[in-house]
Amino acid sequence: MIIALVGWRGGTAKTTTAVNLAAALLEQDSMRRILLIDVDVRGSLMDFQAGLPAVEFARISHELLKKLPRDQYDDVLIDCPGSPDAILMDSVFSISDQVLFFMRPTYAGYVATCGLIESAQAHKIPYHVVVTRFEMRKEKHRKWRAEAWQSFPDNICATTVRHLAKFEDAEDEGKSIFDVAPQSTGAIDYRKLAKEVDSWR
Ligand SMILES: Nc1ncnc2c1ncn2[C@@H]1O[C@H](COP(=O)(O)OP(=O)(O)O)[C@@H](O)[C@H]1O
Ligand SMILES: [Mg+2]
Repeated sequence: MIIALVGWRGGTAKTTTAVNLAAALLEQDSMRRILLIDVDVRGSLMDFQAGLPAVEFARISHELLKKLPRDQYDDVLIDCPGSPDAILMDSVFSISDQVLFFMRPTYAGYVATCGLIESAQAHKIPYHVVVTRFEMRKEKHRKWRAEAWQSFPDNICATTVRHLAKFEDAEDEGKSIFDVAPQSTGAIDYRKLAKEVDSWR
C-alpha cells in the first residue's frame, strides 16, 4: 500500500510519522518491506536512515514517483513537504492508495485540513485525518479535535498522537520512539496507528 503523508505546513508531524509508523509496522511484522520516500528537498527524513536499518529510504523528485517499483515493497510512505504545490500533489495522489492528512488541533489546523480534504475528494482518493501533537490539558486542542470528529467522522483516525517531548530526543538521535522510549505514550500511539493503517488494506 502506498500512503501519502500530507500536511498543510511544516511541523505537523509528517516526518515523525513516516519514521514511527514504519517502525511500528516493522514491530508487528519484521519481514515487512518498507520504503520511506522524501519528496521534500529540505526534508529531514533522511536523517533517520542510520537509525532504522531495516527500512529503505529514498529521496526522489516527484517526477520519478511513477517509476516506483511498487511490487518490491509491502508499504511505501511518501513524506511530502509542508504547503505542497498542486503539481507535486497531482503526482503524489496519482500513485497513492491512501492519503493521510495531518491536523494540529487548532483553528488554523482544522481550517487547513478541510481544504486538504477537498483536494483528496477532487482526486477521488481515499483519505484519513490524524490529529497530532495533541495535549489533553489544552481546552483548545480538545475543542478542535472534537470539531474534526464531528465534521469528518468516517475519515478521522481513532488514533490521536499525543504530544510527547521524547519525540524531539528521538529526532536528535535520528531514531524512532521505539528505540528511545518503547513504553511511552508515543510508542503506544504509533502502534495503534499502525494497526489502523493495516485495516485500510
Ligand atoms: N507527538 C509529538 N509530540 C511532540 N513533539 C512532536 C510530536 N511529533 C512531532 N514532534 C516534533 O515536532 C517537530 C516537527 O515534526 P516533524 O515530524 O518534523 O513535522 P513535519 O515533517 O510535518 O514538518 C519535530 O521537532 C518533532 O520531533
Ligand atoms: Mg518533514
